[in-house]
Amino acid sequence: MTMHDYRIIKLNTEIIWPSIVAIERLSSLYSKDEIYFEFANNELVINLRQLDFSNFKENIQLLTEGSDKGTSQLLNLIIDNIEKIKSYGLKGRKRLYVGYDKERRVRDRREKEKERGIYYYANDNTFSKKNNVVPPEFINKIIVGDSEDILKKLPENCIDLIFTSPPYNFGLDYDNHRDGTDWNEYFDKLFKILKESIRVLKYGGRIIVNVQPLFSDYIPIHHILSDFFMKEKLIWRGEIIWDKHNWNCKYTAWGSWKSPSNPYLKYTWEFLEIFCKGDLKKQGDSKNADITAEEFKKYVIGKWDIAPERNMRDYGHPAMFPENLVERTLKLFSFKGDVVLDPFNGVGTTTSVAKRLSRNYVGIDVSGEYCKKAEDRIKKTQINTTLF
Ligand SMILES: C[S@@+](CC[C@H](N)C(=O)[O-])C[C@H]1O[C@@H](n2cnc3c(N)ncnc32)[C@H](O)[C@@H]1O
Repeated sequence: MTMHDYRIIKLNTEIIWPSIVAIERLSSLYSKDEIYFEFANNELVINLRQLDFSNFKENIQLLTEGSDKGTSQLLNLIIDNIEKIKSYGLKGRKRLYVGYDKERRVRDRREKEKERGIYYYANDNTFSKKNNVVPPEFINKIIVGDSEDILKKLPENCIDLIFTSPPYNFGLDYDNHRDGTDWNEYFDKLFKILKESIRVLKYGGRIIVNVQPLFSDYIPIHHILSDFFMKEKLIWRGEIIWDKHNWNCKYTAWGSWKSPSNPYLKYTWEFLEIFCKGDLKKQGDSKNADITAEEFKKYVIGKWDIAPERNMRDYGHPAMFPENLVERTLKLFSFKGDVVLDPFNGVGTTTSVAKRLSRNYVGIDVSGEYCKKAEDRIKKTQINTTLF
């Protein structure tokens, strides 16, 4: 067997004589095909192949009883380091630490990607690579108006990130937007605004749309939107499930109770569809990234558990998203100093969080009343100066 047949763990620690005896006793319980240990200048090398881990843990516990402090610490260190390994295969009671993923590994991945045609639907785009700046009359402004008209006044390629949640056409009571129209009319208007949004997005910029399908009308808005973006030559970057853990339909609405004839599915989540213009990679200085390691590890998992906004009544808006949703999105997909646009800004959750996180913003909403509230919110927003 070569060293490649083992997973090697090196523990840098002073090794005293009783510890050597304990480890030799431990070693004698296992074959070289499972695990063996080597000592070298204050280093214990663990050569790991496969183990019945719970049996190993029991043996370590037995050895720890009656051992001196240094030896028990070393034995516990061994357990901690092996337990830390979260990726392994399983064969019967044993954990396989090497070779378990060989069968599933795709050889010549790059070549195969090329052959298949990675994001083939967006490769023939004609987007200009020249980015522009947002004119001063629009930067860090909340603008009242129809986004279809307002966006036409912006130059192409000037926005780094668009994060938005359009009206879902459910029939909510907005200030001056009529929600709940004929679906064709709804999509016609939405696509006009999204086309403008794509135009103003920088090359390498991202557009992220929060949507909820109208399950009761059997309209998969998230699929229809994704199809639209792909036809517009944007690259589908992925999808985040925003799980609100609330029942958006009556829990007692079963469709056909206890019968497969027409059961009604229930959901507690919405979607964030993420698209890129021209390039998956975004230009930006790494010193302007403000996401911590812990946040990054958590946010890249495509399911976010975030409670819905609880203060909609206070703001007088029927469909706000929570600040935490915006905070995660901005930290994961934009740099400090970027320009963030929300063309359906409502009472300004996106713009307020953008300001707090030292991003520039442009917020547009058709309601003067909502824009006024968004302005007030901006005035009260403190810029986050926490350093880490
Ligand atoms: C789902 S709400 C967005 C709420 C926002 N995310 C928040 O947290 O406050 C959609 C918003 O789009 C606005 N709206 C509808 N049609 C519009 C249009 N053509 N141009 C600009 N805004 C529009 C509505 O007034 C409404 O506030």
